[in-house]
Amino acid sequence: MTDATSTATTGADFVVVANRLLVDLERLPDGTQRRKSSPGGLVTALEPFLRSRHGAWVGWPGVPDSEVEPIADGDITLHPVTLSSAELTDYYEGFSNATLWPLYHDVVAPPVFHRHWWNAYVQVNERFATATAKVAGNGATVWVQDYQLQLVPRMLRRLRPDLRIGFFLHIPFPPVELFMQLPWRTELVRGLLGADLVGFQLAGGAQNFLFLARRLAGMSATKSAVGMGTRPGQVTVGDRTVRVGAFPISIDATALDKLARSRPIRQRAAEIRDELGNPATIVLGVDRLDYTKGIDVRLRALDELYAENRISADDVVMVQLATPSRERVEHYQRMRNDIEQAVSRINGEFGRVGHPAVHYLHQSMPRNELTSLFVAADVMLVTPVRDGMNLVAKEYVACRNDLSGTLVLSEFAGAAAELTSAFLVNPHDLDGIKNAIEAAITVDHEEGRRRMRALRRQVMTHDVQRWARSFLAALSAL
Ligand code: ADP
Ligand code: F6P
Repeated sequence: MTDATSTATTGADFVVVANRLLVDLERLPDGTQRRKSSPGGLVTALEPFLRSRHGAWVGWPGVPDSEVEPIADGDITLHPVTLSSAELTDYYEGFSNATLWPLYHDVVAPPVFHRHWWNAYVQVNERFATATAKVAGNGATVWVQDYQLQLVPRMLRRLRPDLRIGFFLHIPFPPVELFMQLPWRTELVRGLLGADLVGFQLAGGAQNFLFLARRLAGMSATKSAVGMGTRPGQVTVGDRTVRVGAFPISIDATALDKLARSRPIRQRAAEIRDELGNPATIVLGVDRLDYTKGIDVRLRALDELYAENRISADDVVMVQLATPSRERVEHYQRMRNDIEQAVSRINGEFGRVGHPAVHYLHQSMPRNELTSLFVAADVMLVTPVRDGMNLVAKEYVACRNDLSGTLVLSEFAGAAAELTSAFLVNPHDLDGIKNAIEAAITVDHEEGRRRMRALRRQVMTHDVQRWARSFLAALSAL
């Protein structure tokens, strides 16, 4: 019996495994540490669900070289996995975010392939698998998350064949032709096939994976209808059946709707309008500062709309929030410079003293302030060139209980499959985006309400609890 199996009998019966814990530790200049909420949609989605279910969360605490004891956070136990500075460079910034991230997002930036990054990815995935094997109780359900940990299902199954293992990919799964570029493509497919259920945001991703499983791993795959709410496809791996399906992720819509209706949030939203000089229209963008999010695209569209006098900076003001992200990766540094130059060019050209056209904040916002901004904004711009889902689009909709507000949404975000009543745009078509922004600003009252009603019907009934329930029901039905 290994160490892992001897501790297993007393372990958790539900375990989430993700690159990050739901809180990040932050080292302060005086040497002390504090905890802050982790960035990104994965934590936004999983936290409310896990809090209602209890269990354990295995992940990296957000700072390198840090040996941290398990942390009790309400009913959840956080189990930190230590990463060295070198592993952070090679596994996280390198293979995860300079190889897989661009490759899986339609190679909008060229992916970089380094063997030593791959070796670090294997090593760190092993560490996560070993840590999980120690935490999970006998016969427990383990839910592995996202592209940083695609080898964990197979590694974990070897250590603990008694576990029920699910895997969910939060980002797009690429077209077969792009995935085939990866020198370690077979290893990744085999890694994922260690799970009992492999979930994707959209049916297209699931279909790509089924094709690759057959082609690369020599497995027999049944392509039954894979789609939202339909039966998953199947792959036979030896004597096991791995199910593959689409499970579009969502938000805690009811909680956000309730928060957005509350008096303090409404008051703060009114204050924000005031602070912005009470413009006729507030346009909002909220993103991690990532080159896939199309922040540059929307700024270019706005710039041209001002220049052509189709809108005026006296009437239309933009707020762009950009959470700092992956700041040591070169492509992110270059993109930050480009965006900040674009903002200052627009403000130099169209702003007035005390009245910039674009208010740009490179910072993370507390939840209440962010919700107040969603309530204050008349037009929400979500224009990624590729995005697995994009929870921001759904968050905006959940905050518009009075049916006001319009959403401009890229066809290349997973959310577009559900939010078909948004002003849908092709992020590569600048004129199309300009027209859509103008239409969203000037939309007729009744037409705007009709669209928002339809969007809310979808978001309020397809929340994160439903997503998690349907994934876990498919996993336990095996
Ligand atoms: P991703 O997972 O790629 O970051 P999503 O849109 O799916 O993209 O999720 C982003 C999450 O991060 C959302 O819950 C959003 O509200 C939150 N977020 C984005 N920008 C900020 C910010 N500046 N401050 C606080 N939260 C933010
Ligand atoms: O799914 C998108 C995602 O990469 C998550 O895995 C991650 O938690 C989030 O975005 C934020 O990215 P990072 O953890 O690299 O800061």
